[in-house]
Amino acid sequence: MSKANVCVIGSINMDLVIETDKVPAKGETVLGKGFAEYPGGKGANQAVAAARLGANVHMIGAVGGDSFGETLLAHLLSENIHTDGISKIDEKSTGAANIIVSENDNRIIVVPGANECVTSLQVEKHKQLLIHSDVIILQLEIPMETVVYSLNIAAEYDIPVIVNPAPFQLLPPVLYEKSTYLTPNEIELKAMEKDIPISALKEKLIITRGGEGVEYYRDESLMSVPPHSVEVKDTTGAGDTFNGAFATGIANGVSLDEAVRFANAAAAMSITKIGAQGGMPRRNEVEAFLRSN
Ligand code: RIB
Repeated sequence: MSKANVCVIGSINMDLVIETDKVPAKGETVLGKGFAEYPGGKGANQAVAAARLGANVHMIGAVGGDSFGETLLAHLLSENIHTDGISKIDEKSTGAANIIVSENDNRIIVVPGANECVTSLQVEKHKQLLIHSDVIILQLEIPMETVVYSLNIAAEYDIPVIVNPAPFQLLPPVLYEKSTYLTPNEIELKAMEKDIPISALKEKLIITRGGEGVEYYRDESLMSVPPHSVEVKDTTGAGDTFNGAFATGIANGVSLDEAVRFANAAAAMSITKIGAQGGMPRRNEVEAFLRSN
């Protein structure tokens, strides 16, 4: 059986992760427990999640002309992701994220760097990748204009498109209109509610509520999928794992219920290891986890 095709258009970052028991207040210095660099970026994370779960993944994005860029490109290739759609922008730095992991949660500052150079023109150049996909995934760490351009292609060719509205910014109406699924977390949902009544979005909404599981609508009814109880090491990338896994399920033609249940389990497994991609599971691992939970 051929693999389902998933196209991710999004960011690629190097995550600079500090673990600490205490988050410093303004003007304060504290001693941390650990530091490491991990591959990250919401787009790349979602691509890796989908590839590990068995999808054939093409990524459109950009890295800078620095050593982070080289490392991250090599990493994506090692995860069996097609990188022909990724540009190298010599005069830019690769995107970087400063991540503080503390008290079972994370705080992230992203400096976009080359991610700002993912243009509509680049998407147009790789349009074939989009129109031969079973599912397209978008997030908001690349220019909004590029997100909208990609969304319009998806709508024109009737390809299901998942928009992960993270990090949240004011969304143009077309995004609400043309996305097949919107996957906000609680913070993003609150921000969206100021913009549009949730009742207008219902069937598109898949809400990831972290430790409280996932909610979505089916036939006008609110469905709730409870969280799995796991030992939390690092929640970074849990939402990305959910999106990559959900996309893989939908691309494989499983039901909405099944895709959400599968993605919820994959996301729970992802938080048991450090690094956004560190705990992302493979398909057989998720299946085994679901059998035993
Ligand atoms: O969602 C987690 C990701 O957000 C991190 O990997 C970081 O790079 C930021 O993009």
